[in-house]
Amino acid sequence: MTNFRLAHFSDIHMPPMPKPTLLELTGIRILGLTSWAISRKKIHMQNVFRAFEKDIKQQEIDHYAFSGDLVNIGSRAEIKRSTAWMRGFAPADKMSYVPGNHDAYTEDSIASILHHWSDYMTCCDQGAEILKTLNIELTNAVPFGPFPYIRIFGRVALIGISSAYASPPFMATGEMGEAQRSRLKTILAYLKKEGFFRVAMIHHPPLPRLTPSVRALKDCAELKDILTDIGAELVIYGHNHKNKITNIDNKFGPTLCIGVSSASAVATSHKPAASYNQILIDESKKGWQVNLLKREYIAEQNNFVETEVTPLGFWHF
Ligand SMILES: [Fe+2]
Repeated sequence: MTNFRLAHFSDIHMPPMPKPTLLELTGIRILGLTSWAISRKKIHMQNVFRAFEKDIKQQEIDHYAFSGDLVNIGSRAEIKRSTAWMRGFAPADKMSYVPGNHDAYTEDSIASILHHWSDYMTCCDQGAEILKTLNIELTNAVPFGPFPYIRIFGRVALIGISSAYASPPFMATGEMGEAQRSRLKTILAYLKKEGFFRVAMIHHPPLPRLTPSVRALKDCAELKDILTDIGAELVIYGHNHKNKITNIDNKFGPTLCIGVSSASAVATSHKPAASYNQILIDESKKGWQVNLLKREYIAEQNNFVETEVTPLGFWHF
């Protein structure tokens, strides 16, 4: 029987942001630097980020699921510093990552991130065996070749999907692409048949109307079709910096899509303070009981505390 505690966090946008080199200052990075200087540096604060790290390290977590946007403009200095942080924070078998649109700020940055962080975005041995059974071959092709990857924890399967590509200026869109969607369909159907509890992770909101079109997953309607047909039990995502749970039904039962706020942000007029979720997935003879514990940043204490316990439901299979 699997009892699994998964911590989900997102959108650290690691502060403070190191300066890019002059050569890296292309048009889109100038926009990103300006946005950081005007507003974002007052939202993604180092003390919040440190409080998050301290708090999550004190919890008993089986695995960390980080749904992207560790960096801001994907400069070489940022990627170098973020890589060092990642390796110090958790070994690759303790944390799974999927990239976000800021990780894919330019084609160079997503290529570099897929290279340097590849061990956080790769199948475990059992996941690789499953792909072999399904005749699915992942590649190093940027940006979607290495996805979806599968990691297995007892009877729980974590499926890492990438939505990160270098979107045009003033856009924060994502995409999965037809080939990745086709691989995902096959994987989800197989994992269902084998009785795994399926948790899919993606940076962008997986359904239409969860975010404006300039920030949306371009193929979210197609992903919704996959989720309503074959399903996953949970889909965890970031990007919006907001906490939200949306329930859609697939033909086997519910699919809960769970968005989490940024792990480094102070509260603003339209977005909540930093938080992260602990998802408790407990198997019994009758099925799967799943609960969500939210730990949230309290500015007055410069600390994270448990603010919510939400029963997510019971899955019979
Ligand atoms: Fe994002």
